[in-house]
Amino acid sequence: MSARRVVLIGYGAIAGDIAEALRVAREPGYALAVLLRPGSSSAGRVPKDMPILDGSDAVAAFAPDLVIEAAGHGAVRESVPACLALGLPVLISSIGALHDDALYADLVAAARRGGGRLLLASGALGGLDYVRAVCHAKQLELRYESRKPPAAWAAELRALGHDPAALAVPVTLFSGTAREAAARYPQNLNVAAALALAGPGFEATGVDVVCDPAASGNTHVVRASSEFGTMSLEIANQPSPTNPKSSWIVAQALLAAVDQHFCPVVMM
Ligand SMILES: NC(=O)c1ccc[n+]([C@@H]2O[C@H](COP(=O)([O-])OP(=O)(O)OC[C@H]3O[C@@H](n4cnc5c(N)ncnc54)[C@H](O)[C@@H]3O)[C@@H](O)[C@H]2O)c1
Repeated sequence: MSARRVVLIGYGAIAGDIAEALRVAREPGYALAVLLRPGSSSAGRVPKDMPILDGSDAVAAFAPDLVIEAAGHGAVRESVPACLALGLPVLISSIGALHDDALYADLVAAARRGGGRLLLASGALGGLDYVRAVCHAKQLELRYESRKPPAAWAAELRALGHDPAALAVPVTLFSGTAREAAARYPQNLNVAAALALAGPGFEATGVDVVCDPAASGNTHVVRASSEFGTMSLEIANQPSPTNPKSSWIVAQALLAAVDQHFCPVVMM
């Protein structure tokens, strides 16, 4: 079997971890390329034997079997539509970008037109299989809480008049819908968007963002209740050693999705 061809959009903490793992994977092996904005400072981190692509024509010429976005909301807007229109499957991590209904509709239209497929990664969160199963429940209530130490939200706390270093009690920074949360915190609330899309949608998914001086890591709590029963899930993620804003597990979640994409046996 010939090596699978994969294009990574972005080459930061998450894409770097993915590349490192795929480069040493055997059977069938992976041939990798990276799509970056022209002049990107990340180019220097890309291993010399991995081609750097500068746009959709170069992506088409590389003829990937899969494209993986690990670059941010801007990249979902700028690069993903063209990849879908080329008929490619695109696995995205920056799911929060989909809170924009117009962008979401454009992506779906591009995928339909070109034959591509938009694949949404579970990222830093788990339990989305359960949420998908109850998404049509008549009495569904779904709420997500992000709890992080004050250092993770220093600028936001200062803007509210709090000193992050002197915070003595938890402060709720935000309480609202997943749509508002994803729009307000594009780098941090991708998981709220993933939950909303797996479940009852952006308006019906509640979100609380809490700064807690007693928190040591990034904790995600999901609570679902419906006529089918209840779910309560807590995940405590370690930050990525390369980018403390991203959880280390995200690259592993994307790698698991790559494995599923190419595997003859799929867990749904
Ligand atoms: N779903 C989740 O649970 C989850 C969790 C964490 C991060 N994320 C997403 O993953 C993204 C990447 O995280 P990271 O820690 O690797 O970030 P990072 O800042 O370490 O790296 C981002 C990379 O993307 C590149 N980039 C930025 N805009 C681009 C564009 N328009 N086109 C091509 N490349 C572009 C940058 O040059 C850099 O190489 C985040 O922005 C976030 O949206 C998702």
